[in-house]
Amino acid sequence: MKVLGIETSCDETAVAIYDSEKGLLSNVVSSQIEIHSEWGGVFPELAAREHTKNILPVLDKAIKDADISLSDIDAIAFTAAPGLIVSLVIGVVGAKALAFSIDKPLVPVHHIEAHIFSNFLEEKIDFPFLALVVSGGHTELYIINNFEDYKYLGGTIDDAVGEAYDKVARMLNLGYPGGPIIDKLSEKGICSLELPRPLLKGKPQHKYNFSFSGLKTAVLKEVEKQKYKPEDIAKSFQEAVVEVLVKKTLNAAAEFNIKNIVVAGGVSANKRLREKLTEEAKKEGIKVYFPPLYLCTDNAAMVAYTGYLRAKKGKFVSYDFKPYARIRM
Ligand code: KG4
Ligand code: ZN
Repeated sequence: MKVLGIETSCDETAVAIYDSEKGLLSNVVSSQIEIHSEWGGVFPELAAREHTKNILPVLDKAIKDADISLSDIDAIAFTAAPGLIVSLVIGVVGAKALAFSIDKPLVPVHHIEAHIFSNFLEEKIDFPFLALVVSGGHTELYIINNFEDYKYLGGTIDDAVGEAYDKVARMLNLGYPGGPIIDKLSEKGICSLELPRPLLKGKPQHKYNFSFSGLKTAVLKEVEKQKYKPEDIAKSFQEAVVEVLVKKTLNAAAEFNIKNIVVAGGVSANKRLREKLTEEAKKEGIKVYFPPLYLCTDNAAMVAYTGYLRAKKGKFVSYDFKPYARIRM
């Protein structure tokens, strides 16, 4: 089965084609980073306008790279939720138009689900596993019992972790997106600032919840003092974030006796998180899976693959399907 996937939930216009026999046939991503860097974050209307401009050339390239014709496609998968609604609709309308023109079924995919299952493109992972989702819009922990059998354990009660990275980078005038810049800069720094580890201890109802807004404010106060070097601020911030993510994830793995952890979303590219979680989990006999770097941030390969899993079950939707800005997986 060949499934074409479309992703436009934020600021990447992406199309990919997954073949259940041959694997990934093409994976095209057109990024808008340069356009949004001026604003220090994604500007929704600009993103939508860019998606409109890019979607057909990206689609064209994905078909050419895969060296197939449109009629070879068996199903069209698309990111249905969550995301910027003005961005999502471009992908949804594009998917519907394509499905109509080649008379093939439509498969909706949840963006977070796609990030999680992107790990399966290169690894065979046994169920159940714990999923730590860390991106620009999400910080969540789930138990994944099987495809479409998910248990939500907790998530951020304010900022997402990637969002906190982007905001701290903005405070330090480092550019956008902040995650990779802070990750790199912190290699040169020392962990000299005392920063909070939010929700690590405290109320049981927040056992698996996260909070990064207070940490961000604590960093801002330090930036304003002009006492520390940017690399030391970056390092101290990153250590605080990584400690919280690692401890909460391992606590959940211990409580539910789960031996596999899957990390997903843009922040899964973070070097320190990769290093520390792998190291700490190993001590507990737990294996951690991270997506390869080209699948960490938004892409359509993850949508095409997850779409394939759903198409295999025959779960299609009709042309009146509506996208959602916010909806849980
Ligand atoms: O998954 P993604 O591409 O988009 C969303 O669905 O949100 O994630 C983007 C986020 C941005 O906030 C970016 O700063 C962060 O992922 N990110 C990183 C790293 N690479 C990307 N954060 C920390 N360290 C990185 N190496
Ligand atoms: Zn994403």
